[in-house]
Amino acid sequence: MKRENGAPIGVFDSGVGGLTVAREIMRQIPNEKIIYFGDTARVPYGSKSKETVTRFSRQIVRFLQSFQVKTIVVACNTASAYALDELEKETDIPIIGVVKPGAKTAVQVTRNGKIGVIATEATIGSRIYSKYIQELNENVTIYGKACPLFVPLVEEGLWQDPVTDEIAKRYLTELIDIDIDTLILGCTHYPLIRSTLGRIMGEKVTLVNPAYETARELRELLDKKGILNEEPPELGDNQYQFYVSDGAEKFKQFANSIIKYGILSTKTVNIEQY
Ligand code: DGL
Repeated sequence: MKRENGAPIGVFDSGVGGLTVAREIMRQIPNEKIIYFGDTARVPYGSKSKETVTRFSRQIVRFLQSFQVKTIVVACNTASAYALDELEKETDIPIIGVVKPGAKTAVQVTRNGKIGVIATEATIGSRIYSKYIQELNENVTIYGKACPLFVPLVEEGLWQDPVTDEIAKRYLTELIDIDIDTLILGCTHYPLIRSTLGRIMGEKVTLVNPAYETARELRELLDKKGILNEEPPELGDNQYQFYVSDGAEKFKQFANSIIKYGILSTKTVNIEQY
C-alpha cells in the first residue's frame, strides 16, 4: 500500500454545516481519516463577496495542506460556488465540491423537469446549480430561492420549531406553486431541517441532499487514484480531528449532536496566519 493511502481527507465549511457532509463521508468510507475545519469566526459565507470567500477558502486549503491531506472536500455550497474553480487551478491534490454532485443527483431524480434549489444568497446569485444542471440536461428548468434565515435557525438549534415552520412556508410557497418535483438542499445546514422541509413540500417532491453523492464521488475518486484507505485506522489513531477559528466548545457540542462518533477534541486555529 502506498503511504498516501493512510493520509487524511481535508473537509471544510464556513462553520458547522459541513458536518452533514463529513457525517456522510464517515458513513460511506469508514476507513478514512478526516481533518475538519469550520470557519466559525467568519461564518456566514453566504452573504459575503466572491473575493472574500475565495481568500478565506485559500487560507483554509493552506491550513489543511499542512496535514499532508490527500484530497480536500469543499463541504460548503457557497465556497464551492465561489472558490472551487480557483482552488482547483492552484492546488496539486484533488479538490471536490458539493454543487456538482447535487446537480447530478437532481437531474437523475426529476420526472417533470422542474427542479428547485434553496441555498444562501451567494449560491443562488452565482447561478452555479443552473449552470451545472443545464450542462447535464438543457431541458430542465431550475428555480432558485435564497433562504437566508435558515442558517441562523439551524445554528440556534430550532430544527423542529414553529418559527422554522413559519419561515419555511414563506420561502417555499412559490416553489410549491410552480410544481417542482425535486428540491436541492443547496446549503450544508439545510439537511438538519430536512423533516420540516419535506413536510411542507409534500411527498411528491424529492429532497436532494448533495452530501450523499459527494461522499460517493469522493470514494470513486480515491479508488480511481488508488489512494482509498483499505484498512481501518489503528486503535488510538485520532481518526477524526476538528479545528475551528472560534468557539471550539460550542462547535463541539453542536457536532456531537449530529455526529454519532464522539468528537473528542476541537482545537482553535488562527486561520489568518495561513
Ligand atoms: N455552509 C454554507 C453553505 O453551504 C452556509 C452557511 C454560510 O452562509 O456560511 O452555503
